[in-house]
Amino acid sequence: MCGIIARVGTENAVPSLLKGLSNLEYRGYDSAGIALSNGHGIEVFKREGGIDRLVDHVTQLEPSTDVGIGHTRWSTHGPPTDVNAHPHTDCTGSLAVVHNGIIENHDALRSRLEAAGHEFRSDTDTEVVPHLIEEHLSTGRSTTEAFHAALAELSGSYAIAMIHEGETAIYAARNGSPMVLGIADGALFVASDVPAFLEFTDRVVYLEDGHAVRATPDGYTITEGDEVVHRPVRTVDWTAEAAEKGGYDHYMIKEIHEQPTAIRQILECHGSGELTDLDPGTLEGVEEVQFVACGTSYHAALYGSYVFAERGIPASTHLASEYATHERPVGEGMLVVAVTQSGETADTLAAIETAQRAGARTLAVTNVVGSSASRVCDDALYIRAGPEIGVAATKTFSSQVVALSLFADRLAGEDSPGGPVAFDSLPWGIQRILDTSRSRDVAERYRGRDAFFFIGRGVGYPVALEGALKFKEISYEHAEGFAAGELKHGPLALVTPASVVFAVFTGRDDEKLLGNVREAQTRGATVVAITDGTNEEVLRQADDVLFVPESEPAVAGLLANVQLQLISYHAAALLGRPIDKPRNLAKSVTVE
Ligand code: F6R
Repeated sequence: MCGIIARVGTENAVPSLLKGLSNLEYRGYDSAGIALSNGHGIEVFKREGGIDRLVDHVTQLEPSTDVGIGHTRWSTHGPPTDVNAHPHTDCTGSLAVVHNGIIENHDALRSRLEAAGHEFRSDTDTEVVPHLIEEHLSTGRSTTEAFHAALAELSGSYAIAMIHEGETAIYAARNGSPMVLGIADGALFVASDVPAFLEFTDRVVYLEDGHAVRATPDGYTITEGDEVVHRPVRTVDWTAEAAEKGGYDHYMIKEIHEQPTAIRQILECHGSGELTDLDPGTLEGVEEVQFVACGTSYHAALYGSYVFAERGIPASTHLASEYATHERPVGEGMLVVAVTQSGETADTLAAIETAQRAGARTLAVTNVVGSSASRVCDDALYIRAGPEIGVAATKTFSSQVVALSLFADRLAGEDSPGGPVAFDSLPWGIQRILDTSRSRDVAERYRGRDAFFFIGRGVGYPVALEGALKFKEISYEHAEGFAAGELKHGPLALVTPASVVFAVFTGRDDEKLLGNVREAQTRGATVVAITDGTNEEVLRQADDVLFVPESEPAVAGLLANVQLQLISYHAAALLGRPIDKPRNLAKSVTVE
């Protein structure tokens, strides 16, 4: 996920481009840049790091012009460096392009263009676009014709904006990535999302896939193929501040809602079982896997280890901070997999170092291209969830579990026990929960209880741990997660009539879990079942129910987790907690 903005108008475009980029920073924040067209040609300013670094750089130089484009990046192809930052230009620097999305046929296009003499500077998929446009301009086409001819050669997803030297105009197009047009007094904007220009206008035109735009200070034209398209101008009623979170009150709830998209993204990338990120050698001779991770990532890894076991692959999960306490024997066929959203968690990096010292091969499963874990491990598999800003990890948990399951499929091969987990219906299932969940009512009903316990069996166990972590982390209420069978071995002493127990039913071992539910109810606790509702005994026994769509157990755990994320969110919201920045915590924990 990246953010793009373009502006053309009668005044200096630079301040609004920079403001727009900082409004879009939630879409990516590893590098940023702008390109301006002025009397001398195209000027590009770009920097690795957050928008602030770009702002410092640009402010010193004080450029001024009436047309420009900007980009804030979340790396997918190539690490976050100055060179890989957008905008990208053609060989002569006569045009500049920003892009959000993935150009799937970039390898083939790049080979063709290189053979024709084009020199590339970056590792990005995007750089083929300016070179392609240049190629079409060299055949005598107009800028509009060359832009359209280049688009026709791209496969994949894009929101693209371009400027060309000598023209006070922006050219833009969308296919599969968001793009809106903003109409202000004396200026037109094109951007990934409305927050980019909300300070300057609330009048927008929503563009559809297949639309292209040419905008000048005199107006704009939208086309689809050769046809001119007329679109309604709408007025948005967001405040600029709320809109930075895309209209949600908190990043956490926005990210919970992004899960269907995040899952689609990873399935599109890796669902065929190809795992294209990985070198073929990474999988060779792997007989056993050790996961190392912290917090929510540890819970995702534990979930993954159940899926690995189903596929007949021995897998164990270790808290990274404990793994690093001593070296462990590492056999030939051992792969140590670091599961870390940020790729920067110090405990996890220390565990990788411990494993490498013992001679283990290592793999990072991470969300951040170019992160420390991705660099120090022998290889990296990206979960492609897009930036996660809320401190409480939500969408990355789901994407980690899917990534690990796809990895298990790939390792297991066709003759192994069990079958691949069918994730195709997962985005739909999550969306259904988001549309219908009664979690706010449930949170309201049990507000003020003394303690909240979360229990489950099989993959319901890591989900119970994760449910409790999320709940305590953002509500500050006492919450604990247990393997349901362990209740009777000690924790039952904590259960009283003032306790609420959330029980995660996945369709496997439900009868045993019902036994544990009765143990808690006998001590007076209220039990909320997370269930698909197909087991009538569960419905009869539970005091309250949160439903998930029917699915196989490995998917049911992920669906139940979404209900628990919502419960935590609403419980914390009702208590007025600072949900995105809980006390004492940070998104990326870089100390051991
Ligand atoms: C909890 C949470 C943390 C992280 C943990 C590891 O909501 O987000 O528990 O999961 O700090 O972080 P990463 O995955 O970046 O290594």
